[in-house]
Amino acid sequence: MDDQKPVSDWTTDFNIFDAEYTKDPSPVWNDLRERCPMAHTDRFGGMWMATRYEDVQALVRKVPELSNRQPSLSPMRPEADLLADYHAHMLPPISADPPEQIPQRRLILPFFTPKAVELHRPFTVKLCNDLIDGFIDKGEADGAADYAQQITPRVIAHMLGIDTTRADQFVEWVRGFVEFGVADIELRSRSRRDIMNFFAEEVAARRARPSDDYISQLLLKELDGVPLTDAMVINMCLLLLTAGIDTTWSSIGTSLWHFATHPDDRRRLAGEPDLWPTAIEEMLRLHAPVSIARIAMEDVEHDDTNFARGDRLMLNLPAANRDPDVFECPDEAVLDRRKNRHVAFGIGIHRCAGSNLARMEMEVALQTWFERIPEFELTDPDAVTWAAGQVRGARNVPVRF
Ligand code: HEM
Repeated sequence: MDDQKPVSDWTTDFNIFDAEYTKDPSPVWNDLRERCPMAHTDRFGGMWMATRYEDVQALVRKVPELSNRQPSLSPMRPEADLLADYHAHMLPPISADPPEQIPQRRLILPFFTPKAVELHRPFTVKLCNDLIDGFIDKGEADGAADYAQQITPRVIAHMLGIDTTRADQFVEWVRGFVEFGVADIELRSRSRRDIMNFFAEEVAARRARPSDDYISQLLLKELDGVPLTDAMVINMCLLLLTAGIDTTWSSIGTSLWHFATHPDDRRRLAGEPDLWPTAIEEMLRLHAPVSIARIAMEDVEHDDTNFARGDRLMLNLPAANRDPDVFECPDEAVLDRRKNRHVAFGIGIHRCAGSNLARMEMEVALQTWFERIPEFELTDPDAVTWAAGQVRGARNVPVRF
C-alpha cells in the first residue's frame, strides 16, 4: 500500500496516514499553510489538499464545478468514472450537487432540528450514566473505547428506530466503511454492502408494518412529488449511520484525551461550568475530526492552482480551524473563546445536517463524565491510539481516576 512509504516532501507527497502526522498533524499544517497552502500527493489516486481557512471557504463555494459526488477521501476503483457515473455512488444528500441536493437535504433536516434532537437527550443521559456505572468502581477506563465509542452508535440507532443492542456491529461496519476502508477499497465495499443489507431488511419490515420511527417517516416522504424508493431510503440511512457514529465518537474521545492531558483546562472547566458552551465549540475547533473531498467537474482556477477536470481535492477543515490568520493562539484551547467561527461542521450547502445532534451528544457525554469523574489522567500515554484519514480522532484513551 503506498501509504507505508515515508513522506519525501509534504508539499508534493503528503500522507494523511503517516504515523507521526496522525498523532499530531499541527506542525505539518503550520508548515504547509506557510510554504504551500495547496499541497498535492500522488497517493490515494492523486489528491490536492487545502489547509488555509480562506481557501477552504472559497473552494467550498465553487459549486457545482467542484462536485460532491465523491466526498470520501478513499481512492476510486480503477473502473469507476465519477465524471460520468453519478448515481453509482449515491449517498444522499452528501454525494449530490444542486439542484438534486437541495430537496434531498430537506428530507432529513426535520430530524435534526434542536427540538427534534432534544427528544433524544433523556436516552443519551441515561446511556452515559449506565456506561459510567459499568466502570467507575474500577478506578480506570478507556475514555474512547469504553465510553465515547459506546454512545454514538446507540444514540443514532435509537433515533432511527433500530436495534441499539447491535451497536458493536454498527461500529465494525462504520469503521470498515469510513476508517479502515479509506485505504482498503474491498473492505469499504464489503462494509457498505453489509450496512445496506441490514437497512434493506429494516425497510422491508416497515413497509410491511409501519411504525412512527424515522425510517418509517422517511418511507412516507416524496421527492418532486414521487414517493421515495426503498433504495433512496436505504442510502439515506447508510449516510446517517456512517456520518453519525465515528465523527461524534472522535470528538468526545479526543476531548477526553485533551482534558486528561491538560489538567489546567480540566480543572478550570470542572470549576466553571458556565464555560461548557464555549468549551465545546473550542474542542470542535481545536480537534475537528472531519476532512472532506471534492472532485473537479471542469478545469478550475484558484489563485495559483489549476485543478484539471477529474482532479480530487481534500478540504482539510481541521487545518483551517487552526489558521493563525483567523484564530488567535490557534494551537491552544481557549475555553472561553468568544469569536470562534470554526468550520468543523463544514460550510455552505453541505454543512453538517447533524450538528445539533453532535453538539447534544458532546454536551451530555462530557458533562456527565465531568460530574461523576472530575479528576482523571492518562494511565499510559503510549497506549493512546488515533484513527487517521477522513475522520481523525482518539480511539484509545486509557485513564485512571
Ligand atoms: C462532531 C461530529 C460531526 C462532525 C465534525 C461532522 C462533520 C461534517 C462535515 C464537515 C460535513 C460536510 C460535508 C461536505 O461539505 O461535503 C457533514 C455533513 C453531514 N453530516 Fe456531519 N458531522 C458530525 C456529526 C454528524 C451527525 C451526528 C450526523 C447525524 C447522523 C451527521 C450527519 C451529516 C449529514 C447528513 C451530512 C450531509 C449534509 C449534506 O450533504 O447536505 N453528522 N458533517
